[in-house]
Parts: sequence; C-alpha cells; structure tokens
Amino acid sequence: MNENILLLISHPDYPKSRINKALAQKAGLLPNVTVRHLDEVQKENHYSIEEEFALLRKASCVVWLFPVHWYNAPPSLRLWQDEVLSPILYGSENFLKGKKVLLACSAGAAEETFSPTGLNRFTAEEMLRPMQMTTNACSMEWQKPFVTFGAATLTDEQISSAAEEFVLLLQKL
Ligand SMILES: Cc1cc2nc3c(=O)[nH]c(=O)nc-3n(C[C@H](O)[C@H](O)[C@H](O)COP(=O)(O)O)c2cc1C
Repeated sequence: MNENILLLISHPDYPKSRINKALAQKAGLLPNVTVRHLDEVQKENHYSIEEEFALLRKASCVVWLFPVHWYNAPPSLRLWQDEVLSPILYGSENFLKGKKVLLACSAGAAEETFSPTGLNRFTAEEMLRPMQMTTNACSMEWQKPFVTFGAATLTDEQISSAAEEFVLLLQKL
C-alpha cells in the first residue's frame, strides 16, 4: 500500500458502465488512489498538459481502466497518450521512468474467444501488446494486466467479486 496510484478511467458512456464503474468506485475508496475521468476533464477536446503532468509527477503508479473498444482503448485514453505521453517522451526529462503501469480492461467477449482457435484468434495479452510497447517506450514498469471477460453477461455478484479482486491487486502493487 505504498504506491501513490493515479487511476485514469476512459469510458465514453460512464453512466451506463457496470464493470468499469464498479472497479473505479471501489478503487476510489482506497486512500492512496486518485480517480480521474478522462472523458470529463478535457476542455474543448484537449487535455491540460500542466494538470496531467502535475498529477503524473505525484504518482508512482498509473492505472489505465477502460472497456476494450475495437481491440483498443476508447478515444479519450488514446488522445491522452498522444497529448500527454508524447511531450514527456520527446521532452527533456522522462519523469515516467520507473513508474509502474497497470492496465485494467473489460472485454465483452468471453475468455475462450481470446485464443488461437477462438473467435478472436489472439490472446488478450497479444491484443494489449501496442500498449505494452507504448509503456515500454516510456520506460515504465509493466504489470500483468487485470482483464475482465464476458462483460455484458456478468452478474452483480461477479462484478462485486471482480471489484474486490481489483482492490486487492492495487493494495499489493
Ligand atoms: C464501440 C464498441 C466497441 C467494442 N469493441 C469490443 C471489442 O473489440 N472486443 C470486446 O471483447 N468487446 C468490445 N466491446 C464491448 C465492451 O468491451 C463492453 O461493452 C465493456 O467492456 C463493458 O464495460 P462497462 O460495463 O464498463 O460498460 C465494444 C463495445 C463498444 C461500445
């Protein structure tokens, strides 16, 4: 519980979210977690670089929480990567170096579809490779992603136990 965690949630329709909302709400109860809604903090479709930098500098661990949309992160996280990560990486000081990064994402499809013989043909780990490469380029410390499958059919009980599991994971980072 020593990490100062910045949890960035990207969800274009947060009011209707079930799993990501449950994870964000539960995680937000931890004293060392700051939850930031990327779809809400933009002004005229852009981020304030000063604000994002200040929060990132304080954090020792960054969590990206999102529903998988077309095998990728939703637009607000992609924009955040373009607008916030790029100036750090190509700037004079990479202050992300050594910070932990954890992806927590939900997929509508069932777990068994993410395999060479399944409908999606590739594993979830393979799907997330571009994000792993992005964080690797930033010299961040990649953590094993927390992936929830079959998001559309999860029961309330499954959602609360996923949220419990997620919080335990954050406490162990
Ligand atoms: C535009 C769009 C694209 C989606 N693409 C995928 C996808 O590529 N793979 C997948 O498994 N689920 C996909 N889904 C399903 C979402 O991942 C699923 O609805 C979400 O994880 C549920 O999370 P929530 O309860 O927080 O809204 C997509 C949903 C939308 C709206």
